[in-house]
Amino acid sequence: MNSPCIKIDKQYGEDVIKILKEAHILNSDLRPKIMNNKLLIPVIDEKKSLYTIKGITDIELCNDSFEEYKFKPRKLNRLIKGISSYSIIGDIAIINYKKDMELLEKAAKEIVKINPKIKSVYAKIDTEGEYRVPKLILLYGEKRTITKHKENGLIFYVDIEKTYFNPKLGGEHNRIANLTKDNEIVLDMFSGVGGFTLNIIKRNKANVLGVDINPHAISLSSLNYIVNKKSLKGEAIFMRANALFLQDIIKNKFDRIIMNHPTGSINFLNTACKLVNDRANIHLYAILENKNLKLDNIKNQLKISCNKTYEINEPRRVLEYSPKYSIYEINIKLI
Ligand SMILES: C[S@@+](CC[C@H](N)C(=O)[O-])C[C@H]1O[C@@H](n2cnc3c(N)ncnc32)[C@H](O)[C@@H]1O
Repeated sequence: MNSPCIKIDKQYGEDVIKILKEAHILNSDLRPKIMNNKLLIPVIDEKKSLYTIKGITDIELCNDSFEEYKFKPRKLNRLIKGISSYSIIGDIAIINYKKDMELLEKAAKEIVKINPKIKSVYAKIDTEGEYRVPKLILLYGEKRTITKHKENGLIFYVDIEKTYFNPKLGGEHNRIANLTKDNEIVLDMFSGVGGFTLNIIKRNKANVLGVDINPHAISLSSLNYIVNKKSLKGEAIFMRANALFLQDIIKNKFDRIIMNHPTGSINFLNTACKLVNDRANIHLYAILENKNLKLDNIKNQLKISCNKTYEINEPRRVLEYSPKYSIYEINIKLI
């Protein structure tokens, strides 16, 4: 499909797409593409995008053909009113729960029609407990919860019922992997099935320790490590532990600590602070109100629990959590 577009340097792609999306001028039905080392991004309003992006990178206006995204949730919304979003993990689709069972079953059938590779469709009622796993109802197809998901060229075996997994985190896994450097020692404090860990060691000769309290997550991350081993440059070890007590178990210090447990990570800052090297980076994921991005809780917690010098970067929005709140990454840099 043809669309007006902007042509930019690839390296600014992620940031520019985010800005265009927030300004509602990204044509999100079409997939951006790379041509002659430049990134072509389909837009709704060329002039407005020129104005919005000005100063970030050089931009050329263009008009080109783009592939349409096949499984856009919006398409489903057009077909079935009331079902706004669903996600796909491997060959399983998950719809965010709306109370009307009949509507959900209709939506499940529609999803399979749009995307024939889907074998099961579930409704997610909630995310619960320490393991942050979803409560699910089968709507359509096989009663199977284990699937194979591809992300950034890696294979992840996921049990959608027993482990946390969000396919929307692929971009963030990639971003943190790109910030990491060879020879870094990294702690992935809440590693799940290994998303951050494996993306990091795919791109870098780094050493990562992945920790999770959920035994199923540790089994699957270890499996995912073995399955992807041939395409990995670095090394990883996965350990089942309560991250709260890591400073009593581990003697190493880390150059980078990833704290991706948005509903609880703030309580682990004390532990992280004890495990960091000089000039380390902590990536703390927390839920903040979109409007005011108040960091008071985090700053207070750091004051109480971390007697080191650090600076806190601007929060970076990663995922929507609810209409009012989002999950943000807060980069705490030891100086
Ligand atoms: C949001 S998920 C992590 C997702 C993962 N980082 C990814 O990118 O896919 C949070 C994880 O924290 C783990 N968790 C919760 N409390 C923990 C604790 N006290 N110690 C270690 N892991 C914990 C949960 O089991 C869950 O897998």
